[in-house]
Amino acid sequence: MSTYKKRTVTCGELRESYVGKTVTLTGWVDKRRDLGGLIFIDLRDRYGKTQIVFSPERHVGAHEIAKSLRSEYVISVTGLVNIRPKETENLEISTGKVEVDINELTILNKAETPPFALDDYVDINEDLRLKYRYLDLRRPSVQSNLIMRHNTYQVARKYFDRIGFIEIETPILMKSTPEGARDFLVPSRLHPGKFYALPQSPQTYKQILMVAGFDRYFQIVKCFRDEDLRADRQPEFTQIDVEMSFADEEDIQKITEGAIADIFKTILNYEVPSTFPIMTYKTAMERFGSDKPDTRFGLEIRDYSDIAKASGFRVFSDIVKKGGIVAGINVPNLALYTRSQLDVLTDYVKSLGAGGLVYLRVTEDKVECSAAKFITQEESNAFAKKFDAKPGDLILLISGTWQKALTILGTLRLEMVQRLNLIPEGKWNFLWVTDFPLLEYSEEEKRFVAVHHPFTAPKFEDLSLLESEPGKARARAYDLVLNGNEIAGGSIRIHTQEVQSKMFSLMGIAPEEAKSKFGFLLDAFKYGAPPHGGIAFGLDRIIMLMTGSKSIRDVIAFPKTSSGMSLMDEAPSNVDQKQLDELHIRIK
Ligand code: AMO
Repeated sequence: MSTYKKRTVTCGELRESYVGKTVTLTGWVDKRRDLGGLIFIDLRDRYGKTQIVFSPERHVGAHEIAKSLRSEYVISVTGLVNIRPKETENLEISTGKVEVDINELTILNKAETPPFALDDYVDINEDLRLKYRYLDLRRPSVQSNLIMRHNTYQVARKYFDRIGFIEIETPILMKSTPEGARDFLVPSRLHPGKFYALPQSPQTYKQILMVAGFDRYFQIVKCFRDEDLRADRQPEFTQIDVEMSFADEEDIQKITEGAIADIFKTILNYEVPSTFPIMTYKTAMERFGSDKPDTRFGLEIRDYSDIAKASGFRVFSDIVKKGGIVAGINVPNLALYTRSQLDVLTDYVKSLGAGGLVYLRVTEDKVECSAAKFITQEESNAFAKKFDAKPGDLILLISGTWQKALTILGTLRLEMVQRLNLIPEGKWNFLWVTDFPLLEYSEEEKRFVAVHHPFTAPKFEDLSLLESEPGKARARAYDLVLNGNEIAGGSIRIHTQEVQSKMFSLMGIAPEEAKSKFGFLLDAFKYGAPPHGGIAFGLDRIIMLMTGSKSIRDVIAFPKTSSGMSLMDEAPSNVDQKQLDELHIRIK
């Protein structure tokens, strides 16, 4: 038996049709106005807010208790639904045409004064929000983010189920398998000195499920990576993980586009195009200086190497002769930038690793070059003419290796569009980026490492390059990019033991090491592995973009800070000596 009255309606439900009815509401005291005679309260739950009124005429007892109500008290109230006088209607909330005249009030729990206002419109220090996450989560905007997240799960599950994918859970305690990031390790009590790893993704398991014949697998799954955090990265995050047998790139891309179409249609009522444009990694780099180009705006990179090569300016000509490039962006209306603003910009590109910045101001009658001591007027004119610069334009030139110069320009491009406010609202630009390099040389490790992961297949036509020039081989990998964010990534996999072993050897992983790290996968490939491929969606990033949030922390119920802390429960924390002893661990 309940000691209080259970709600008959939620705080988001009442409309004019309820006028004259008696209802019971439960919820939290949001705002309270005591006008002496009357006490008005906005009562809140996750469905909305309802104005309730206590008057001594209606019920003197309830009115008396209501005087003690404070923010975040939890109450149950019963009363009569009335229409609000026209001038007091609140059209900003769905229940704003009515109010409830209360004749019964039970205080279910008191609350201390919260450390911050639980209002969507106040800017609160994020650390404070995370420390008191249970209060922060009461704010309607955070709640609506999590509700959108829930809805996205449901759409994704229905979609993959509808087209024959089977959801299979894979272990959280697994063998450490490299995917590029650092593993989180879990010491084994029963096996002293041995460790489980938390999955960076279920990559090897889903491939083994293909060997097992499951054909179409998906899972909404937590992944763990011990890497440096950013606004779009968390140490634990969620993927919609997918794998398919007998599938090539187009199949995976079609399935992915279908999932995105369903999610965007159901959640945002937005129709995405039936297929997404495809751009190779090389083109993405050369036009946008990024492997995840934001194509909502122009300001594309242009290559000026041919002019630079012939220039008397040695910095430029030498770089091009050595195989590097001189490239730039042409920023409209920025010729107005003052010398000191340009100095700041020069420092900025230097901080990105550029040797310097050469700029050309295009005015009505002249092209002024910052390196005029070395670059002749004719050369400056040629730079400006090459891509039809207009008066008012400012050309920013960077020289360097292909990768470095383009990457710096890509970052500079984003910086300039931010400054100039050139990013259009309400656009959803999806883009496939394909043909990534298979391997890249790590100067630090003095060996090749996989760009995607070691299980990604090389392009068929590049197989011979594995022998001659491994660095030039392209991968059968694809990333899905939305407005400059990588929201999914996958590949067609290697499915033969021979090619997989070859990959390991290219990466400097000796056969014994390959056997000890991936023996199970190589063994599985001996027993009839079908050709297969897959993809994983970064669910947190997708929700971040759909909700218009700036950080994935805003769409995760209990996120970590950028230093990997959970401020609410204070993880990571010290543990008892006894626990350490059981795990055979000594802290240095
Ligand atoms: P990948 O490493 O590209 O692929 O990850 C897939 C997608 O997951 C998201 N993501 C992250 N989101 C938040 N925080 C992070 N730290 C983080 N790291 C990645 C990105 C990314 O596109 N096993 C492969 C998939 C496959 O090949 O099928 C994998 O995990 O949106």
